[in-house]
Amino acid sequence: MTYRRCGRSGLQLPLISLGLWHNFGDVDDQSVARDMILHAFDAGITHFDLANNYGPPAGSAESNFGKVLASDLAAHRDELVISTKAGYHMWDGPYGDGGSRKYLIASCDQSLKRMGLDYVDIFYSHRYDPETPLEETMGALDTIVRSGRALYVGISSYGPKHTREAARILKEMGTPCLIHQPKYSMFDRWIEHGLTDVLEEEEMGCIPFSPLAQGMLTNKYLNGIPAESRAAKEHGFLRPDALTMERVDQIRLLNDMAAERGQTLAQMALQWVARIPAVTSVLIGASRVDHIDDALGILEAPEFSESELQSIERILN
Ligand SMILES: NC(=O)c1ccc[n+]([C@@H]2O[C@H](COP(=O)([O-])OP(=O)(O)OC[C@H]3O[C@@H](n4cnc5c(N)ncnc54)[C@H](OP(=O)(O)O)[C@@H]3O)[C@@H](O)[C@H]2O)c1
Repeated sequence: MTYRRCGRSGLQLPLISLGLWHNFGDVDDQSVARDMILHAFDAGITHFDLANNYGPPAGSAESNFGKVLASDLAAHRDELVISTKAGYHMWDGPYGDGGSRKYLIASCDQSLKRMGLDYVDIFYSHRYDPETPLEETMGALDTIVRSGRALYVGISSYGPKHTREAARILKEMGTPCLIHQPKYSMFDRWIEHGLTDVLEEEEMGCIPFSPLAQGMLTNKYLNGIPAESRAAKEHGFLRPDALTMERVDQIRLLNDMAAERGQTLAQMALQWVARIPAVTSVLIGASRVDHIDDALGILEAPEFSESELQSIERILN
């Protein structure tokens, strides 16, 4: 594994991190989930990303991860970087959603209990909440660190302006913002319009999520929607109508180009995300152990030439 330093911190993250958003909930096969976690760790993927609401049902990915920690990884806690988040709807009533101090601290305590942990390594505000003063949300993150519930804090999906403000507030409090977790892939490039500049200026790490556009940037959907795929699942989040004919044509061209480079499309797409200097780690999802092995292929892959990058631009445009 290659490790990259996370912004201006002492923490290094693996170039590939594993997220437990899908395929680790109670609806999923727990033996496959356990195999994926252990296989990843054996390959040097030391960072596992969770959130309070991952499942389904919400909370179950944390509980299931906690079981694997207890049964297999208890002796390795200090070799792991475990993150969780709060910000989206988690429980009913006014206190289980958003960015309030009330929600974030209660949710962090619930996450620790579900995973059987004393602390998480990184706790995130999962999204910007326009109805809560940013000082309150960042103050809650600061409290979470000072009370020993987390070692570092991060923010997810904040735009450039709120990222800069959050960084300033946290710096003043003495709890620097370690990392930003934005969506980024060949099919969603919003971070290139201002956010990466802010992250570099603020010396913050960056861990893009859904780098495969939830599986679209693989060979999976070239011939329709397979039954076990995310696009076929009711709780899958990837809507089948995202796979338009134009999209599939584009995927086919990218797939051909990856083959010319001697790699899979998944590898080319991950490597393309990792090409950005601001990126610390690429946060993948997987439903099978071989998805993790496929991702690990980027560690050996040749760099992109200028003309290859231009060819990708032409396909994407
Ligand atoms: N902060 C946030 O708001 C936020 C939001 C979303 C995600 N995240 C984080 O980011 C992580 C990754 O997100 P993601 O799961 O959407 O990432 P992704 O890497 O874009 O998609 C993962 C999916 O792609 C398919 N796949 C992966 N490797 C493949 C391969 N080699 N060949 C064919 N198909 C392959 C699998 O789909 P199938 O299941 O169809 O096999 C897998 O579940 C999440 O687990 C979570 O930790 C954060």
